[in-house]
Amino acid sequence: MTSPDLRGNIFLDPTLYADQPKWHAVAADLRDNDPVLRVEEEGYTPFWAVTRHEDVFAVSRDNEHFLNTRNSIMAPDLQMEYLKSIGIEGETLIHMDGEEHSGHRGLANDWFRPRAVAKRQESIEAIADEFVDKFRQMDGTCDFARDIATPYTLRVIMGIFGIPVEDEPTMLKLTQGIFGAADPEYLGDLSDPMALLTDTLAQFDQYFTELTDDRRAHPTDDLATVIANGEVDGCPLGNNARLWYYTIVATAGHDTTSFALSGGLEALLRDPAQVALLQSRPDLVNNAVDEMIRWTSPVRHFLRYLTQPAVLSGVEIPEGDRLLLSYPSANRDERMFDDSMTFDVTRPNANRMIAFGGGEHFCLGSTFARRELRTILPKLLAAVDTIEVAGEPEWAQAAFVGGVKHLPVAATFR
Ligand code: HEM
Repeated sequence: MTSPDLRGNIFLDPTLYADQPKWHAVAADLRDNDPVLRVEEEGYTPFWAVTRHEDVFAVSRDNEHFLNTRNSIMAPDLQMEYLKSIGIEGETLIHMDGEEHSGHRGLANDWFRPRAVAKRQESIEAIADEFVDKFRQMDGTCDFARDIATPYTLRVIMGIFGIPVEDEPTMLKLTQGIFGAADPEYLGDLSDPMALLTDTLAQFDQYFTELTDDRRAHPTDDLATVIANGEVDGCPLGNNARLWYYTIVATAGHDTTSFALSGGLEALLRDPAQVALLQSRPDLVNNAVDEMIRWTSPVRHFLRYLTQPAVLSGVEIPEGDRLLLSYPSANRDERMFDDSMTFDVTRPNANRMIAFGGGEHFCLGSTFARRELRTILPKLLAAVDTIEVAGEPEWAQAAFVGGVKHLPVAATFR
């Protein structure tokens, strides 16, 4: 009998992501020796872990042969069965394929196009200024992840959604209840991650049902109004699809970006020469932001299912099997990025990072995410004289979306 290959566990065990050097050492070994690894872990339907940039890229772009399906996020089989048994089935854009997907994506697409996002620059600037001022008022000492990155990214996305500032704590709690369901910090009174997840989804349901009623009675010019009154192929959005539409925008829209900002800043501050370089060369900001997103890769995976047999990195995979696309691994692939384990704001091909996925599911909010980071980073660096990490950062325990959740920093201002 062969012993189980424990390397596959790095994609499943949320606690392993919290030790980044170790996680990346295992991923590097996989890229070199088993770039498409069959993982057979108890409690999970077997899958293939895809770790090289070239393969993740190729699979992401081929939406005909690699489908998302309703099961596009990794979870223990028992959890999936339980959710299904109580009538909960994901119906976000991520869970759709083909025309169903393009029809639903078309509903909100215009809101996320570069020109539409550019129109919000003034309001993003104002929010960024507010949070840089807040940092100053805290005498330059704060938990950057909790006090700045999270509320800043939340405020921006809630602004387009049309959710009032007083409801932001509710949205934050609900997002952490979904993405942080494996992290002890967010479990609260509910010691059971499943209970937290179902409780959170019920609260989202209630909140967004009331929002729908309101925007149908009183339409405004916000995204919530578009979703509340949305039609696909002339038919109103189904109740479940509508609820999930709100949920994905509310959740995917800020946790991801906030982890990219906090983890990216941590990496930057570890190298004072890079901080000084960015302060003297603001023209490097866009590249630095892509490097921050490459470095942090806040979304850890999505799944794809084969519609016919395929060969990836020489490994034959049968029809129907599922692939786990590992974005953090692909983004550290030394075949694509020279000296990939070094954070470098001048990296010439930082924009080849694949943290936003690819093909028809390419991240709807990527322009927003980039713009949010590109707006606050130069303001922050222009405001401070010195800035450094002032304590041990803490990583979220999450196998789906995660990153630095606490980042103590200390700054002096100009
Ligand atoms: C740094 C921040 C972000 C990262 C790393 C990220 C990452 C991703 C990834 C990997 C995907 C799946 C792509 C694929 O399957 O090929 C995705 C999809 C998506 N993202 Fe983002 N995202 C970020 C920010 C945002 C923001 C700000 C929003 C705004 C609402 C957003 C909304 C979405 C939506 C709606 C989808 C589903 C698209 C589809 O399936 O058609 N994301 N994102």
